[in-house]
Amino acid sequence: MAAVWVPGAGSYDRGIVTAVTARVPAKVNLQLSVGPPGADGYHDLVTVFHALALFDEVTVTSADTDSVVVTGEGASSVPADGSNLAARAVAALVDAVGPGVRDAPGLAIEIRKRIPVAAGLAGGSADASGALVACNELWGAGLSQQELAEVAAKVGSDVGFALLGGTAVGLGRGDRVTPALAAGTYHWVLAFAAEQLSTPAVYAACDRLRAGRSAPTAAPQLNTALMAALRSGDPVELGPLLSNDLQPAAVSLLPRLRQALAAGREHGALGAIVSGSGPTCAFLARDGAHARDLAVALAGAGVCRTVASVSGPAPGATVISVPSTRA
Ligand code: C5P
Repeated sequence: MAAVWVPGAGSYDRGIVTAVTARVPAKVNLQLSVGPPGADGYHDLVTVFHALALFDEVTVTSADTDSVVVTGEGASSVPADGSNLAARAVAALVDAVGPGVRDAPGLAIEIRKRIPVAAGLAGGSADASGALVACNELWGAGLSQQELAEVAAKVGSDVGFALLGGTAVGLGRGDRVTPALAAGTYHWVLAFAAEQLSTPAVYAACDRLRAGRSAPTAAPQLNTALMAALRSGDPVELGPLLSNDLQPAAVSLLPRLRQALAAGREHGALGAIVSGSGPTCAFLARDGAHARDLAVALAGAGVCRTVASVSGPAPGATVISVPSTRA
C-alpha cells in the first residue's frame, strides 16, 4: 500500500491510501489531418489536440475482486467489464510494472461520465488516462509522466493526450504528443447528437470517400497559420483555420450534422467543425457571453440532442482526491 504525499505538508503522512479519484478532460481536434492507412490499418495523423473543461471522474479502490461500474451520461453503452478502456489501461500498467504493483487481489473502477460516449470527444481515452494516473497513485507505482505516456500509447491513440491535456500536437497515430505554445482561453459550444459514431467506421468511410477521388492523399502537414493563431490567443484568427479531414466522412454517415454546422455559423460561430470522428459538433465563440448566446440559439434550433458551453484548454488527467486511513 502506498504512503500518501500530503500536498503542502512537506512530509509523507503514514496513512494508507484506500481510493484515488482522477478528473479527466474531453478533447476537440483543432486540426485533424489524416494520411492514407498504413499496413496496420491505422492512419498517419497530424493533429492539434485541445482539452476541454468537460470532465469524467475515475475512482479506483483496492478490492477483493475486479469490477467496473459506469454511471452518468451514456453509461448504458459503456462496457462494465475487462473490455472497458480504463480496465485495459490498468492491465497495461500491471504488465509494464509487474503484478507485484497491485496491493490487493482486485481493483474496483468507478467511472462517472459527463463526456458523451462515442461522440468524438475521446471520453473512453480520457477514462483510460484517469485509471492510469489514479492507479499510479493508489499503488505508489512511481511512474513518471513519460513512463505513463508509454503505457498510454499501448492502450489507444488519444490516451497520451488525455494524460497531458492543454493544447498539443499529435503525430503518428496521434499517440506522439508534444505540448503546443498556445495563449489565452477559448470558449466553445458543443452540440451533442442523439446518435453515436464508431471511430473505425468513420475512418473507413473517409477511406471510401477518398478511393472515389483521382488525386492521391497528400501527406498531412501541420498548419503553421493555425499554430500562429494559437500563439496569438485570438479566437477570430483561430476560427477559420479549424479543420477536420474526418468531417466529410462523419457527415456522410450522419447527414443532419450539416444542419447543425450551418446553424452554428448562422449564429455567429467563428469556426464550426465536427469534433474528431464525431458526431459532436464544436463551435468556437468570441467569448464566454457569446458562447452562452450561441448555446441558447443552437438548443432552440433543434439541430442536436443537447448543448454544453465549455472552455479550453483544460488540464490533463489530474488526481483530485486521495482519502486515506491512518496506518
Ligand atoms: O487507437 P484507438 O483504439 O483509439 O483507435 C480507434 C480506431 O480508430 C482504430 O481501430 C482505427 O480504426 C482508427 N484509427 C486510425 N488511425 C489512427 C487512429 C485511429 O485509423 N491514427
